[in-house]
Amino acid sequence: MSIMASIVTFANKKGGSGKTSTVVNTGGVLGQRGYRVLLVDLDPQAHLSFWSGVNTYDTYLSVYDALLGKCSPKDTLYKTEHGLYDVLPASTSFSSGFIKQLLDKPNPEGCLTKVLMDFKNDYDYILIDTPPTVAALTLNALAASGYVMIPILLNFLAIEGLAQLTQTIYRINAAFNPDLRMSGIIPNQYDIRSNHSKRVIKEIHENFGDALISPRIRNDIKIAEAPEYRIPINLFAPHSRGCMDFNLLADFILEKIKSGRGESK
Ligand SMILES: Nc1ncnc2c1ncn2[C@@H]1O[C@H](COP(=O)(O)OP(=O)(O)O)[C@@H](O)[C@H]1O
Ligand SMILES: [Mg+2]
Repeated sequence: MSIMASIVTFANKKGGSGKTSTVVNTGGVLGQRGYRVLLVDLDPQAHLSFWSGVNTYDTYLSVYDALLGKCSPKDTLYKTEHGLYDVLPASTSFSSGFIKQLLDKPNPEGCLTKVLMDFKNDYDYILIDTPPTVAALTLNALAASGYVMIPILLNFLAIEGLAQLTQTIYRINAAFNPDLRMSGIIPNQYDIRSNHSKRVIKEIHENFGDALISPRIRNDIKIAEAPEYRIPINLFAPHSRGCMDFNLLADFILEKIKSGRGESK
């Protein structure tokens, strides 16, 4: 008996909303709880890979090589020193030529789905970090996932971004992945003393319902400092606010996935 990995994409076209921080720290927390976790870095900035210890200026096989079928997916796997999760790394040597080659493939949005087949039996959770740009990569992530979570900063444009993302998810449901569901909105760097943030979160509650909104991640400098040490917050600052918040977020995500089980992805 083997349970296949649940696949969760973290998306938001807005840079700086907390995608990378959320994927790494949630991955760290889940790993510490004994789950087998794989993080997939699709962002050519390769911040997740760097944070995980990959020397991103070296030459190595990346997830992009796997997507194009240039190597066996398992050849790209990077094992972290701390062992809380493994990584399929991005590469900063990503080029526009890559996108051209991807789009020339017969089923361009299904390439990541195919790559992840090789890993689904080895992990409990696969968390995917997406780039702010390069729509073809985010599309691959959403096509491969059962769940999408959206970290947001609580300014007014966030609501507009959420509306757009909801549209995108519906289109993907119709076109190639009926299983994908919007499973969470993650308020990041939420300051409850700010009246503006309070108004925005109220509006989101009204539009999306209470069940979809995760516990907030507070502003914590430890979250910003951890990448320098190449470890997630639960190793870097186990007694921090940030570590506490990511544990509560992990509870929320596990609960969402448990209630969504029975899906094929
Ligand atoms: N809750 C937080 N507290 C403090 N700094 C944060 C927090 N969340 C994110 N940051 C910082 O904000 C910046 C953007 O976050 P990041 O996770 O890289 O966003 P994205 O991947 O969406 O671009 C980073 O410098 C990160 O360290
Ligand atoms: Mg990022």
